Amino acid sequence: MGTRESDVNPFLRDNFAPWRMEGVAEDLEVVGAVPRELNGTWFRNGPNPAFEPGGRYHWFDGDGMIHAITLRDGRAHYRNRYVGSGGLAEERAAGQAVYPGLLDMNASEAPRFKNTGNTNIVWHADRLLALMEAALPTRMDPATLATVGEFDFDGRLMGPMTAHPKLDPRTGEMLFFGYSPFPPWLQYHVADRAGRLVRTEPIDIAWPSMIHDFAVTADHVVFILCPLVFSFENLRERGGAFSWEPDRGTRLGVMSRSGGNADVRWFETDPCYLFHAMNAYEDGGAVVVDVARYRRLDFMTPRAARDPGYGDDTAARMHRWRIDLARGGVSSTPLDDVICEFPRVDERRVGRPHRFGYAAVRETAADGGLPVWTAVRRYDLQRGTAETRRFGDGNGVGEPLFVPRTDAADEDDGWVLVLVYDRGRNASDFWILDGRDIAGEPVARVVLPHRIPYGFHGNWVAS
Ligand SMILES: [Fe+2]
Repeated sequence: MGTRESDVNPFLRDNFAPWRMEGVAEDLEVVGAVPRELNGTWFRNGPNPAFEPGGRYHWFDGDGMIHAITLRDGRAHYRNRYVGSGGLAEERAAGQAVYPGLLDMNASEAPRFKNTGNTNIVWHADRLLALMEAALPTRMDPATLATVGEFDFDGRLMGPMTAHPKLDPRTGEMLFFGYSPFPPWLQYHVADRAGRLVRTEPIDIAWPSMIHDFAVTADHVVFILCPLVFSFENLRERGGAFSWEPDRGTRLGVMSRSGGNADVRWFETDPCYLFHAMNAYEDGGAVVVDVARYRRLDFMTPRAARDPGYGDDTAARMHRWRIDLARGGVSSTPLDDVICEFPRVDERRVGRPHRFGYAAVRETAADGGLPVWTAVRRYDLQRGTAETRRFGDGNGVGEPLFVPRTDAADEDDGWVLVLVYDRGRNASDFWILDGRDIAGEPVARVVLPHRIPYGFHGNWVAS
């Protein structure tokens, strides 16, 4: 008997292990009281391999699974379902994994590719889209979580779509991009309020890279090119498709939203990597971008598939870039010294000045070098202060999400929603925290019937 990947890969164990049942649980136990004003559904996506992987597994590879928590009239309901990709259908027919991991470039045949749809789930123009950055969106039915199928904007989207589109709260547009290791390396897209793809613009970049996120303001978009370089030369010797080349520095490409590729101005800053920007905005002739910044990135090496080595030196911290459009130059300022990921702002502030931000954090390196965060942090970036709610060692949290009390409520008047693993119960809870007092008495805790594996991103859809 050979060793199974799930015996040796930490991303298949503990609360990273997949949950392989799909189901519905109505009227969940609630400790405290779900606010009556909070009506809607929180959707969350994450990797959840349906079968024992046939080769080396990377956390980013698993089949997408959507978890939906619906709050209505003070009651809470849960449902979960796989993103039903064509690749998953093949594997179900075969009764085992068929696709190698995304990073398995050593296969004797050309690597086959599955649109796992495993990274984010967004609602735009009455469509619920599961996203993964190497492929088209996958449209889902919001009521049943059934997979409708890949969505290509009526044949207009050629190429992949980032998992981090930006929804402009003023125009209703969805701004996004797609990157590729093959030309064109980067394309910018705009879907209008009605969900029609109205613009596609190839953007020239200096090298092909894995670009996970970008930032937008009222007037500009900011492309972020880090020195993680796609390279298909000597793949076997180097052991992967990415190389970390810090001598290149990091480049920030600022483009007017009314302009195009010819108008992109590139600004240089220190080498770094980032998965996620918190937000960006215009500030008197400058563009401010707040990001969760890694000094370097080790996470995409083949070694990292089983041993991510996520620790003090290799984790992200909140950081601010101020790009001076008038005089040129980027000022680069740390905002915090606590390890963080999954930064978010109030969605009504996207592209506009934000005072508050939220992230999953951890205060000590632990958990065998795994990317596990055990607290939620709320930043007051105007005062330069932060408040932390801790959930205890081993009780990992996901991406925190602020939901306003009403459309017109103040920026911090609402709730922070976060999914937390309870190691003692080996199950997850959905916490509703007071946006103005996240460390105080929780508003409610929804007790879920089982654990939800650590995953990626979620969003709230009001009803
Ligand atoms: Fe992400």
